[in-house]
Amino acid sequence: MNVIPSPPPDARTGLREAIRRIPLENISSLARDGFGDPSIIPLWFGEGDRPAPAFIGEAMVRAVAAGHVFYTHQNGIPELRAALSDYQTSLGARAIGPERITVTTSGMNAMAMAVQMIAQAGDNIIVIDPVWPNLGGAARVVGAQARSVRMDLGEGGWTLDLGKLEAAIDGRTRAIFFASPGNPTGAMLPMATQIAVLDLCRARGLWLIADEVYNRLVFGLDHGPTILDYAQDEDRLMVMNSFSKSWAMTGWRLGWMVHPPSLGPTVAMMTQYQTSGVATFIQHAGVAAIRDGEPFVASMRAYCEEGVTIVCDALEQFGRVRMGPRPKAGMYAFFEVEGMPDSRMACLDILKQTRVGLAPGVFFGAGSEGFLRLCACRAPEVLREAMGRLKGMLS
Ligand SMILES: Cc1ncc(COP(=O)(O)O)c(C=O)c1O
Repeated sequence: MNVIPSPPPDARTGLREAIRRIPLENISSLARDGFGDPSIIPLWFGEGDRPAPAFIGEAMVRAVAAGHVFYTHQNGIPELRAALSDYQTSLGARAIGPERITVTTSGMNAMAMAVQMIAQAGDNIIVIDPVWPNLGGAARVVGAQARSVRMDLGEGGWTLDLGKLEAAIDGRTRAIFFASPGNPTGAMLPMATQIAVLDLCRARGLWLIADEVYNRLVFGLDHGPTILDYAQDEDRLMVMNSFSKSWAMTGWRLGWMVHPPSLGPTVAMMTQYQTSGVATFIQHAGVAAIRDGEPFVASMRAYCEEGVTIVCDALEQFGRVRMGPRPKAGMYAFFEVEGMPDSRMACLDILKQTRVGLAPGVFFGAGSEGFLRLCACRAPEVLREAMGRLKGMLS
């Protein structure tokens, strides 16, 4: 007689240990219960309230009608790689050929592939924080450690101590990651510092993963500087980018990576085994965004700057708030509140009492416990309402 095997009591025991160790809590899980609740002003995510401009959606619909609905090139459709090559070249001093560009299913997917290509269990990647936590998460998924090197907040803003960075490197370090402009700080690493990090990577045989997702949202400038200007083609450098912020396309899941030319076939292989590429019609929409999106990008920059100004004007009046110099870029305010040392608890309390959703600072690096992040990419009247609601608790 056959004995029917009984199922294990909990299927999770079959998961890889590295996966079981990753905390399930993140900004999304905190916000989950509040999705779509009209009583909440949701300033917890890194996205605004404006959809991508209509011409981008129209380009997607036209692409579907034209039959662009089949499998395509793993590095991205040639039209979009060419458009991104022109675009990247126009932002810097060096030509970036299409062979250096792979279209990805968002900036997040670019980061996941970058990490998988260079790190394995037992390795570590140095994450310069406070920073959006997902590169660290991608490292943990492969069993690698995300090793925090925290920037210091002084009178002049956030600065990186290169000695501290160098001291964090050991024999299992594979890469250094920074985002400039940064999320949540809105700070920019001076180019001299970025070059010093690149030099350190060269000297120690490490990869540099640079995130330039907010590079078009630098207040008062068309764009920020890029480390690509100071690197050779075959430097161990990958630069992450995304349509999410500057073109307001968070839900479209479209991004790209600039990599050394020799890496093209490897990134195509990685894409094959991850997503097998971005939906073809979304890539056609991306071409329209790059070719015709400049006025929209400029309007996003102005919108974010106005939002950050409204929020900082208010926060600076709140007696219990401590904040560094105003952000130079991005869409966030990052601040501490006296008497609120536990940022998760603070966010829950603030949500309960004011119906304003904020993100806990501890998610952006353990050293940022006690900070809160507010996304200011919202209509001015919504932000004024939010700051009015917060005043009682934060003053
Ligand atoms: C610094 C930074 N990099 C990358 C991303 C990824 O964006 P996406 O995955 O939507 O392209 C974000 C999103 O918040 C971010 O803040």
